[in-house]
Amino acid sequence: DWTMSAYREQAIAAIREQVGDKQVICGLSGGVDSSVAAVLIHEAIGDQLTCVFVDHGLLRQGEAEEVVTMFRDHYQMPLIHADEKELFLGKLDGVSDPETKRKIIGGLFIDVFQKYANGIEGAEFLAQGTLYPDVIESVSFSGGPSVTIKSHHNVGGLPEKMGLKLVEPLRELFKDEVRALGAELGLPPSFIGRHPFPGPGLAIRCPGEITREKLDILRKADAVFIDQIRKHGLYDDIWQAFVAILPVRTVGVMGDGRTYDFACALRAVTSVDGMTADYYPFTHDFLGETATRIINEVQGINRVTYDITSKPPGTIEWE
Ligand code: XMP
Repeated sequence: DWTMSAYREQAIAAIREQVGDKQVICGLSGGVDSSVAAVLIHEAIGDQLTCVFVDHGLLRQGEAEEVVTMFRDHYQMPLIHADEKELFLGKLDGVSDPETKRKIIGGLFIDVFQKYANGIEGAEFLAQGTLYPDVIESVSFSGGPSVTIKSHHNVGGLPEKMGLKLVEPLRELFKDEVRALGAELGLPPSFIGRHPFPGPGLAIRCPGEITREKLDILRKADAVFIDQIRKHGLYDDIWQAFVAILPVRTVGVMGDGRTYDFACALRAVTSVDGMTADYYPFTHDFLGETATRIINEVQGINRVTYDITSKPPGTIEWE
């Protein structure tokens, strides 16, 4: 793509000019925006960039390994894998209120990021994958305070607090342009086309108290659902798809025995920007097959429902 190769050259020159010989830190979430920003900056300044990937224990199956493999092993970027699962899950123990969960996760995220960033000698810049729409309007997510959680990618207030200057090489781009730039930079299509994933992760797909048991079950069920969607060639038609584990056990029958396990909800929507959404019209065959697979393959779930709420009035995430 001619435009993107020109943009790439221009952006690289600008980053070099801005940063000089100083160190840059980047919070890598594994999402498209921060990934493209990191690869672009790495191309510009190489090992002057260190990425910090905060693993809060609320990621999907295989996600942390994928991010670490891709950035550390494939791109050979200096990457800190901040394994803080115990910290996050410990502080979330017994918490069921959605906004409290979000505040805990957002607050810890900043603390953790700051702790690792402080260990990087001579860091003067903080890189962010801020896009043009984030610049022109502060995107408002459901439930008010969740806006601060967007600080996952946009660590509001942190640059000043830490005395860091911002590097935001995607500030002039829209989402589709960021994807084109990612392709230009050689990021694999499977990575560029990934569904969005919220900063608070699986915490907001686990209404009620978060336990390790529920998270393990949720990760497995979610992986089966996504596998089904990919196998049926539907992934790219869907804006976002995931499983939510419900805080209720129900009675079922399996073989000769009675079961008493969790119920889950499948969620899949089409959307243009996440602000409004329609539930995805799966065929009944697809839904039936998926329910059977989840119940057979995931121990701990014995009932599967499909969420047919559009947004509004529902939100995409369950919390
Ligand atoms: P809702 O659930 O409000 O979500 O319909 C709209 C879109 O935003 C994502 N989302 C978030 N992303 N931090 C994020 O980075 C958050 O706190 C957050 N909450 C929701 C959600 O996945 C969907 O794509």
